[in-house]
Amino acid sequence: MALPNQPKGELKAVVDPEIVEMDVDALIIGGGMAACGTAFEIKKWAPEDMKILLVDKACIERSGAVAQGLSAINTYVGENPIKDYVKMVRNDLMGVVREDLIYDCGRHVDESVKLFEEWGLPVWKKSDDGENLDGAKPAPTLREGGTPVRTGKWQIMINGESYKCIVAEPAATALGADNMLERVFIVKLLLDKNKPNQIAGAAGFSVRENKVYYIKCKTAVVACGGAVNIFRPRSTGEGKGRAWYPIWNAGSTYTLAAQVGATLTMMENRFTPSRFKDGYGPVGAWFLLFKAKVSNGLGEFYAGGDAAKEELEKFMPYGASPVTPTCLRNHLMINELKAGRGPIYMATEVALNAFLDEKREAGMDDKSLKKFWKHLESEAWEDFLDMSVGQAGLWAGMNVEPEKVGSEIMPTEPYMLGSHSGCCGIWCSGPDEDWVPDIQHESRSHKYKWGYNRMTTVDGLFTAGDGVGASGHKFSSGSHAEGRIVAKQMVKYVRDIDFTPEPELSAQECADIIYAPVKRYHEFVGQSTAADVNPNYCKPAGLMMRLMKATDEYGGGVATYYMTSGKLLQICMDLLEMLREDADKMAAGDLHELLRAWENYHRIWCVESHIRHILFREESRYPGFYYRSDFPTCDDENWKCFVNSTFDPKTEEWNVEKVDVVNIIETDPWL
Ligand code: FAD
Ligand code: ADX
Repeated sequence: MALPNQPKGELKAVVDPEIVEMDVDALIIGGGMAACGTAFEIKKWAPEDMKILLVDKACIERSGAVAQGLSAINTYVGENPIKDYVKMVRNDLMGVVREDLIYDCGRHVDESVKLFEEWGLPVWKKSDDGENLDGAKPAPTLREGGTPVRTGKWQIMINGESYKCIVAEPAATALGADNMLERVFIVKLLLDKNKPNQIAGAAGFSVRENKVYYIKCKTAVVACGGAVNIFRPRSTGEGKGRAWYPIWNAGSTYTLAAQVGATLTMMENRFTPSRFKDGYGPVGAWFLLFKAKVSNGLGEFYAGGDAAKEELEKFMPYGASPVTPTCLRNHLMINELKAGRGPIYMATEVALNAFLDEKREAGMDDKSLKKFWKHLESEAWEDFLDMSVGQAGLWAGMNVEPEKVGSEIMPTEPYMLGSHSGCCGIWCSGPDEDWVPDIQHESRSHKYKWGYNRMTTVDGLFTAGDGVGASGHKFSSGSHAEGRIVAKQMVKYVRDIDFTPEPELSAQECADIIYAPVKRYHEFVGQSTAADVNPNYCKPAGLMMRLMKATDEYGGGVATYYMTSGKLLQICMDLLEMLREDADKMAAGDLHELLRAWENYHRIWCVESHIRHILFREESRYPGFYYRSDFPTCDDENWKCFVNSTFDPKTEEWNVEKVDVVNIIETDPWL
């Protein structure tokens, strides 16, 4: 159960924490959409005596990217052919994706959505006469054949403020409170001392008590979401905590897996979303539901113009799509900004009034028009109240009336993620099906399947959601579905192997590593007048600013309009290496700081792999997300391939390599 916060501030950290040792069969690390999928499904397949434990750094009722709720489910395949879903994802991610994983997600995702509705999530429906019924209005469920309100081809609308609570409850009920640890941050995965390349456990600490957890396991899923606060955010000072993706997700998924030798893929990919400026409110509902358009500072709707068309033709076949890939939409926007034609506005007032005109022209009377208008206005606000409350607060604070004025939108700082409109992550086995390419190679980092679906290249270690690389556009529903897929595979894995885990590191060794920042603090704190300034240690807050400065200026952050080069990237790598060394000098006086210290550590590792991959890929695959000035074009001839990297925990060396992309869905027609 989640422990409450201390009534009087943060709990001071002590040098000798209690060590709690646990021994389970299957360990679920994370408590977000993917982990809830695993937790809900796993008990159905596991024998009575299989021990399962879920560990979340937060409290699953409101943890992860869905914490505030959402206003749409972005992946519901419904009446569409699954292969069209694969084609959409492939095109949006500029051709370099694992089609097997995407197809597999597509065939499972709708079941998760139907379950959400049965658990109480209100899903909007179409009435028989084509009107939109919000989730409060009675209508047949999806399973009963109800028609959801589609915004785009793949997205459906929900009343989703309580989405995460609704999904977490069945997960927690299925597992049982005794099989969950909340407010425990996992710092390290542990390999087995006898069986090479086999996961044997994990170690972490409570952020509410002075306790270190040392957990042995036979199999684990790491589903700790993406990475946020790795680049300097646009928000400054007291607004700095505001970002679009969840600030609590610190790249743990990628770092934990990489450190034990799991191959990573497409870590050069990032998501630089365009969002409502300063409040980071999402744009999807405005574009898709309200059919809004973006204009530049001159009032021109640049995206539909001839110049934009000409620009997109440089990126064939991707640019020719009727739905422009997300990065190229950004590219057009960045071009406007760089040409001095900013700011960019979401023309909310044009969009809302167009609806009104349409109804008026169709003969709606004044009273009904008034009612319709009120409803439309509340939908506009609800989009943010459902999933990005700060944006609604900002609108209210700035006296913005979206029906009267447009609002500025802006590309944000970059995030790393594998479930939304990005695809960095871990290289995984696809399902054991004959349509999954059977590549003969000695290394798993070149193969598409090796027995257990969504298992990483490390035996017994699985991932899901933001963790699975080269297969974006899963979103909340696809992440949950992937978690469910993993559950069955973990049970199968435990049944198949005869193995008693013996981690390489002992419980005491783990505790010493995890609490090192606390020991350093206690050793040196008296040596200066201010606890935050000390010749013998640095505090996590300062280290994070250094990280953000390095990535922003040299790694293609907002400071340079996402432009970088081989030279700049090399400087960034050198700075990050130094930062990683200095990270060993972090000090933590309380548990909150200890959390910040380890989050920083995870961030540095994962952003270092990001920079390493961008450096390796000598082209600009995702214009609008980042550019390399020395290789400014998207070069399909040489670079239509995955970039995979593997850290060897024994030699501590990285191997970065090109891996073939195999299409399993026809490429003619491409879309
Ligand atoms: P998350 O759900 O983020 O879960 C990560 C979990 O890991 C959390 O429980 C976290 O506490 C835990 N964790 C992190 N580090 C550690 C650690 N070291 N130890 C232990 N636990 C750890 N999707 C849609 O379908 N529709 C939408 O409209 C939509 N809108 C979005 C709007 C916003 C503002 C955001 C941020 C996301 C949106 N998404 C949307 C995307 C969706 O939320 C994600 O795709 C999905 O949540 C990813 O699932 P996940 O399980 O991989 O990660
Ligand atoms: S959200 O998940 O935070 O709401 P976002 O607003 O980017 O994200 O997108 C929601 C959904 O709308 C995603 O499926 C995204 O691909 C789609 N989308 C957003 N903007 C557009 C656009 N201009 N054209 C087509 N699809 C879009």
